[in-house]
Amino acid sequence: MTSTTAPARRPRAAIAERTLRTDRWWLAPLVTFLGLTAWVTYATVRVFMQSDYWIGQYGYLTPFYSPCVSTGCIPEAAHFGRFLPDHPLIPYAALSLPFLLVFRISCYYYRKAYYRSFWLSPPACAVPDGHKSYSGETRFPLIMQNIHRYTFYLAALIVAVNAWDAILAMFPGGRFGLGVGNLILLANVVLLCLYTFGCHSCRHVTGGRLKHFSKHPIRYRIWTWVSALNARHMMWAWITLGSLALADFYVMALAAGWFTDFRFFN
Ligand code: FES
Repeated sequence: MTSTTAPARRPRAAIAERTLRTDRWWLAPLVTFLGLTAWVTYATVRVFMQSDYWIGQYGYLTPFYSPCVSTGCIPEAAHFGRFLPDHPLIPYAALSLPFLLVFRISCYYYRKAYYRSFWLSPPACAVPDGHKSYSGETRFPLIMQNIHRYTFYLAALIVAVNAWDAILAMFPGGRFGLGVGNLILLANVVLLCLYTFGCHSCRHVTGGRLKHFSKHPIRYRIWTWVSALNARHMMWAWITLGSLALADFYVMALAAGWFTDFRFFN
């Protein structure tokens, strides 16, 4: 009978330098830190503004307020009813935002990004950890990151809600219309699909737990598409942060009267 024991932890080599890397290894975590901080600050301000989120004339609803389910929502913007209490600390889209937040926070890419840039654990390859001990994601609270596989389904549902908003916005007042705002909202939905369906969980859903791909040609085909998206997951993660902010900013700027929407069809 053999027994298995965990390999002994080797101490770090006795090197005086903090790292032997001479390149600008700090640049990526710094840019990530600044980018995520800026985005989270903007999103937080906008979510709690509770104004400038809907253009009734064109049916534009910013994704930061979708679905608008607070009793404080403008009735025309509430495509799925109004039932949450109207309170300054409850976002109008409180039904979707917490799940989207957990979905992004527990995303495999964002985990790497903020572990490196905010937690310095480690800040880069071959650079020592900013903390003395390291337990990975084996204990509370980080073991909760496993919830990601479940939030994927909710995120997919919310993308469908965003898609519905974008389709409704093409028929303001019951007649077809198309403006720059429609293109921005539609592009945002497409990009959100590319990010959401390139998720590692989606890859597992489509191709995981199969012994023989040859016996599941359709799942295999879908898995190859998801895998192609997954290979660029970091890119889609950043692009969708940009598209979400752009869509929200555009609607806010129109609502504030900073400029008017260019219309191709009215
Ligand atoms: Fe990034 Fe699932 S791994 S969204």
